[in-house]
Amino acid sequence: MNISRKDVLLNFGGGMVTDLGGFVASTFKRGIPFVNIPTSLLSQVDASVGGKTGIDLDAYKNQVGTFAEPDFVFISNEFLETLPDEQLISGFAEMLKHGLIADVAYWEELSTLNPLENKQLLTLIKKSVSLKSEIVLADFDEKGPRKILNFGHTIGHALESYFLQKKNPQLHGHMVGLGMLAEAYLSKEMKLISETEFMQIESVCRNHFGKYLKEKPDTDRMIQVMQNDKKNDSGKINFSLLNGIGKCNFNVEVPEELIRKSIQCF
Ligand SMILES: NC(=O)c1ccc[n+]([C@@H]2O[C@H](COP(=O)([O-])OP(=O)(O)OC[C@H]3O[C@@H](n4cnc5c(N)ncnc54)[C@H](O)[C@@H]3O)[C@@H](O)[C@H]2O)c1
Ligand SMILES: [Zn+2]
Repeated sequence: MNISRKDVLLNFGGGMVTDLGGFVASTFKRGIPFVNIPTSLLSQVDASVGGKTGIDLDAYKNQVGTFAEPDFVFISNEFLETLPDEQLISGFAEMLKHGLIADVAYWEELSTLNPLENKQLLTLIKKSVSLKSEIVLADFDEKGPRKILNFGHTIGHALESYFLQKKNPQLHGHMVGLGMLAEAYLSKEMKLISETEFMQIESVCRNHFGKYLKEKPDTDRMIQVMQNDKKNDSGKINFSLLNGIGKCNFNVEVPEELIRKSIQCF
């Protein structure tokens, strides 16, 4: 198409398109400008904001990618009118995560909301974008504090990879929702949240995401997949775990025995 460095790439679609388009734009001719127009809830509240682009390799998530910012992100509520319900629930997982890691009042508001019944989500989308932006701005290239955005994702990504390898691919947000349940369990076992806080999180996650776990994953295989996760330092499995609701610690090492128990808690 004779694209030059003066052209702009418009990434119009869900998170797959904004991740892939961002990667292409940031590497083609050493980088051309790009604009994200996210059309799924997940890409609006998460994937299109924060500068991470990338693609998967084999069954492993985001193995090739860059940190690159779009020039603009345009978000419109109207796109959500045609979005399938299961995709809406997938995006909702990341919104719940924003509340859990950074804003207890936002979590409380979301925990009683059914996004399928109340699709006027624009105010909440703005809240999620601003929470994520604040975290990203403090640590753009993920030296440390940004890692709290990975809450639910160590086990969530492992579930995604596990089912992908079994040729039974699952939606990102659904697996992150289940990952948040398992990692909230780890937070409780590591004495970072109370039993009551865990039970509240468990109930919300089971309610929205429980039905998406079609079979119990094999624990040994899950541990193996997690050891391959790029979030690890020197072969150890690292977690971002809640430290009370609305706060999150990163680089938490968890004994393997506990990780096994958390996978069996599904
Ligand atoms: N870069 C990041 O920081 C980041 C953060 C979270 C997730 N992600 C990535 O985002 C991807 C998931 O994004 P996603 O959930 O948007 O999936 P997706 O891009 O696959 O879109 C989901 C489905 O919805 C359809 N769709 C999109 N908008 C629609 C609309 N308005 N109406 C009807 N159908 C529509 C798409 O065609 C697709 O079939 C994952 O690969 C994940 O790793 C990236
Ligand atoms: Zn995610």
